[in-house]
Amino acid sequence: MTPIEGPLDWYKDAVIYEVRVRSFYDGNGDGQGDLAGLTAKLDYIADLGVTAIWLLPLCLSPGRDDGYDTEDYEKIDPAVGTLEEFHALIQAAHARGLKVITELVLNHTSDRHAWFQRARRASKGDPDRDWYVWSDDDKRYGDARIIFKDFEASNWTWDEEAKAYYWHRFYHHQPDLNFDHPPVREAMLRVVDFWFALGVDGLRLDAVPYLYEREKTSCENLPETHAFLRDLRASADARWPGRMLLAEANQWPEDAVRYFGSGDECHMAFHFPLMPRLFMAMRREERKPITEILARTPDIPESCQWALFLRNHDELTLEMVTHEERDYLWREYAKDPQARLNLGIRHRLAPLLQNDRRRMELINALLFSFPGTPVLYYGDEIGMGDNLGLGDRNGVRTPMQWSPGRNAGFSEADPSALVLPLVTAPEYHWQTVNVENQRRNESSLLNWMRRLLALRGKHPAFGRGRIEFCDAGSEHALAFVREHGEDRVLCVFNLSRYTRPLPLDLSAWKGMTPVELFGGVRFPVIGDERWNLSLGPRGFCWFTLKVEVP
Ligand code: GLC
Repeated sequence: MTPIEGPLDWYKDAVIYEVRVRSFYDGNGDGQGDLAGLTAKLDYIADLGVTAIWLLPLCLSPGRDDGYDTEDYEKIDPAVGTLEEFHALIQAAHARGLKVITELVLNHTSDRHAWFQRARRASKGDPDRDWYVWSDDDKRYGDARIIFKDFEASNWTWDEEAKAYYWHRFYHHQPDLNFDHPPVREAMLRVVDFWFALGVDGLRLDAVPYLYEREKTSCENLPETHAFLRDLRASADARWPGRMLLAEANQWPEDAVRYFGSGDECHMAFHFPLMPRLFMAMRREERKPITEILARTPDIPESCQWALFLRNHDELTLEMVTHEERDYLWREYAKDPQARLNLGIRHRLAPLLQNDRRRMELINALLFSFPGTPVLYYGDEIGMGDNLGLGDRNGVRTPMQWSPGRNAGFSEADPSALVLPLVTAPEYHWQTVNVENQRRNESSLLNWMRRLLALRGKHPAFGRGRIEFCDAGSEHALAFVREHGEDRVLCVFNLSRYTRPLPLDLSAWKGMTPVELFGGVRFPVIGDERWNLSLGPRGFCWFTLKVEVP
């Protein structure tokens, strides 16, 4: 199947919408969201103005980690549909100009995977055993941290069948594949071919820093991992030009950029450290956390792009902050101890921001203004709430709220059969917070998000431009110009709760006329003096800078 036409580096101008298929829309009335349901809702997604969808795991899986525990890489889980339905989805998405990104969970499988079943039964020295990482004791690789701290006490679990310990960086039922074993690497390249042959446009490389293990290291970001990624990229480029690889590497900027290689590893990587700092800047009402981390972020190869996000299907991870910063963020954003999970916070965007519309607009505007490709998490465009009563990360994975009708319009099934219960907390109840209600109201968050997306889509500077910070006369403000060729966008943010005068130093753009993007209103020409703008509480403005032709 051919991908849609367009530039090979389409991901630079993209806005990605992250969808948990099982919670999006139920096409067959069994209470679970599925591929047919998602296909039926593609018009909604296209109308939002995003350009790509990222689908959470689809492969056959026992579902003990929401599909990140793969049982078979080449089978679709029957709960979400069939390969034919996946084909239909790709075609329907491409027909609407939407790219499709799926998961490549390459670090580990489910313990139910045939490879693991074969490996645990194979005797020592048999190459089948070497598909996974075994040890006679649980002491090896002792410098590797435990990621799921709330659930696992060790990265080793004893297997009675194999009479040995096996290595796992996540749940004990997710044994890590042994990338030192050549057949594993070959098998993974075949999996990549399988999904690209189906027509997917991009793959998110789940948990990619942990592929290899070496004694006396953290077992993260090892040179061997990067060497494998270069092979994977070369193999993908040779057969599938224009397809994208996105690294999920929850790392500091200097380690994360290494996933781009010199433009020969991944095309994209998530910027994990920026995310918590957006929340910190919002809370402290000052720009420093943002400007510091951006200053610390090295330049990336021309063909590469950051993926930027506020929330996703996991807890809001606080791994990429200092201990003091983590305590601060926990104190401010997770007052209820139930909201804490591993090293993070299991809330959706709206509850994090006290359901304050101004804050939701401000933080989305920030996300949409920085160099990179924004990723939106389904439901956050309507300000959905969460449910701390559900275990693990399920509270942020509840069904999409489509309407005030039966099961929030998500499913025809008996309410007790729903994949997860609907949000019924009064402030976020599905009868109020839903797509249908917000479509009708011109001032809704949904319609505001659509306008924001439409404006962004008109300005290539957002996706491709360089960033130039401007002095705004206050630590509570942030101002910069994004510039790509003739396209220039001035972005100004007042992070504080009070109205402020912001005398901007725009001397580099003297003689140009700022035109506000939402309303098209012309502002005074930039002259020799500071350019004075006042912004209300948590306000922001986007201007295009026009060169006046005499
Ligand atoms: C990634 C996923 C997360 C999953 C983990 C283990 O971090 O985002 O949901 O549990 O990998 O596969």
